[in-house]
Amino acid sequence: MTRSIAGELQQLREQGLYRSLRTVAGSQGSRVVAEGREVVLLCSNNYLGLADHPSLKRAAVEAVERYGTGSGASRLVSGTMELHAALEERLARFKGTDAALVFNSGYAANSGIIPALVGRGDVVFSDRLNHASIVDGCLLSRARFVRYPHNDMNALERLLAEHRGAGRMLIVTDGVFSMDGDLAPLPALVALKRQYGALLMVDDAHGTGVLGESGRGSAEQFEVAADIDLQMGTLGKALGGFGAYVAASAEVVELLINRARSFIFSTSLPPAVLAAARAALDLVDSPEGKALRRRLARSAALFRDALQEAGFDTMGSETQIVPALVGEAEPAMTFTRRLLEEGFYVQGIRPPTVPAGTCRLRCTLMATHDESDLERAVAAMARIGKELGIV
Ligand SMILES: Cc1ncc(COP(=O)(O)O)c(C=O)c1O
Repeated sequence: MTRSIAGELQQLREQGLYRSLRTVAGSQGSRVVAEGREVVLLCSNNYLGLADHPSLKRAAVEAVERYGTGSGASRLVSGTMELHAALEERLARFKGTDAALVFNSGYAANSGIIPALVGRGDVVFSDRLNHASIVDGCLLSRARFVRYPHNDMNALERLLAEHRGAGRMLIVTDGVFSMDGDLAPLPALVALKRQYGALLMVDDAHGTGVLGESGRGSAEQFEVAADIDLQMGTLGKALGGFGAYVAASAEVVELLINRARSFIFSTSLPPAVLAAARAALDLVDSPEGKALRRRLARSAALFRDALQEAGFDTMGSETQIVPALVGEAEPAMTFTRRLLEEGFYVQGIRPPTVPAGTCRLRCTLMATHDESDLERAVAAMARIGKELGIV
């Protein structure tokens, strides 16, 4: 019998894995209106608060006035607009590479870049906790897909040795792990990629604009930027807009223009988005950007320490992404619901986003959060956590 859609939805409900959309009013500020009341937003990736910053809005509006709303087609069809070229030049300068290429989203970047680099007869080594877009890119590539235990460099080395000589080898990792907030050991990865002649790609979706003294990301923090073959990042998180980029050698970018299907077969980013991203990079480079990064780091540290003091397991977080481990799906979603009733919007995260049994509240900090709101959030989490028997 054909599997019914209603039956599949019912099964998701019974497993506590059903997902639905929640409408919020207003911009992605530190407070939004959800379900008719103002709540503190603790699940947005708008880390520096740039998503409604006046200078980004101004840049977007001016770009619309001058260039219109759409880019018309794939860049290989109707041309690269001046704004694409200007943003890529700015991104390459920002990351200190020869070249950069923008993609329509982080998802499009990862699912396009990986199959452009490796295919049948090649091997891709991917951290077990890498983002779903990396996993999908690996699967699409048809290369041998080897997953190594999270941040386990001994296991990775064994696997590299086992596959040595088998076509092109690519190691791919999140720079900041999106659901755990911990960091990849980039210096050790660089040493291994050198030893085994592999390419190294780092997805810095959550490090771009935030980590490193000047916000260049996790590679800057570890001082290994020059040793990473492909530094991918997104424009829709700390940079407050939409889209993604990869910074790499001119040769790699040339290959991606020729081979990355999500670049070739998709209408390119529109003027407002391109202009806002350039304004965001200027902001990251300004004294204001530096102050926002400091404030974010301080809030994240205070929040993480307070959660730990309240008895939560913050799962190795070292950044502005601070998970609180719950365990099963049902209590995680009850926790989210109870927090919303108390004025805090914190997202519960379940499989397949995270492994079964590790459901969590993924709290994300913004430079624009009030310290008193964060203190109240921790108090509410501690109270509800006790009620639910989690702490
Ligand atoms: C590590 C990582 N890579 C890629 C993406 C995808 O980026 P985008 O939201 O721009 O598609 C995300 C999040 O969405 C992410 O967390």
